[in-house]
Amino acid sequence: MAAKLIDGKALAQQIRAEVSGRTQALKARGVQPALAIIMVGDDPASAVYTKHKVNDSTETGLAATLERYPATMAENELLARIRTLNEDPAVHGILVQLPLPKHMDAHKVIETISPAKDVDGFHVASAGALMVGQPGFWPCTPHGCMKMLESIGYDLRGKHAVVIGRSNIVGKPMAMMLLGKNATVTICHSATQDLKAMTLQADVIVAAVGKRNVLTADMVKPGAVVIDVGMNTNDEGKLCGDVDFAGVKEVAGWITPVPGGVGPMTRAMLLVNTLEAAERAAR
Ligand code: GUN
Repeated sequence: MAAKLIDGKALAQQIRAEVSGRTQALKARGVQPALAIIMVGDDPASAVYTKHKVNDSTETGLAATLERYPATMAENELLARIRTLNEDPAVHGILVQLPLPKHMDAHKVIETISPAKDVDGFHVASAGALMVGQPGFWPCTPHGCMKMLESIGYDLRGKHAVVIGRSNIVGKPMAMMLLGKNATVTICHSATQDLKAMTLQADVIVAAVGKRNVLTADMVKPGAVVIDVGMNTNDEGKLCGDVDFAGVKEVAGWITPVPGGVGPMTRAMLLVNTLEAAERAAR
């Protein structure tokens, strides 16, 4: 294997330890950082994710509550609950788990969350703050990817980063974060005509498509840093990313595994954002 592994699991553990320390310091000042999680309906994956979020929080000293509502909940009821949480000084972060039932407008729901408590970083105000380089909350997945690049001491200045995928919560914010570090950024997507021609130029590749084998060894410049955001299942039913790991690891300089890469980092960054929200409120 040519590539060095960026161990997201180990880095996330380190970040969680830092969160624990800062949480203790805040608690010593009488502030208990708290995250309110709302789940509507009974999507099995959402049930697992929200449970992880609660457990991750309590393990690092953050208080977390999970409110579960039936899929029949009226949108107005949900908006009213969010507004109440917005006004509650004991709650620092609010997270509404997605997807929401079809009768709800997810955009409207997210926009109802106070930007000061938007620890997912999905609010338009959070996206705007990232765009103009002002303090706000960064979405957890791309933020975690940036921490991984930072952990290997990678200097992005003047480097070419290619992001594959243009979602509002990964691809687009990822590009803005890379740009903020003075990288040259190309965003590719399903309509990109010659993806390989783009990725072969890249010093850093972030694959965030949600499809297996989007990136293969022939598409990677030797020594490039490859970050795999994908979460797919392979033929054996095991978790795998967007990158053909076995092939690409022979060409890349650095690579993130799946599992044990971006996933644990996403979870850790939610804790960082929640703590940050509490620290800002206490200032
Ligand atoms: N559903 C899947 N991932 C996420 C996430 O990061 N935040 C929220 N709110 N919902 C999700």
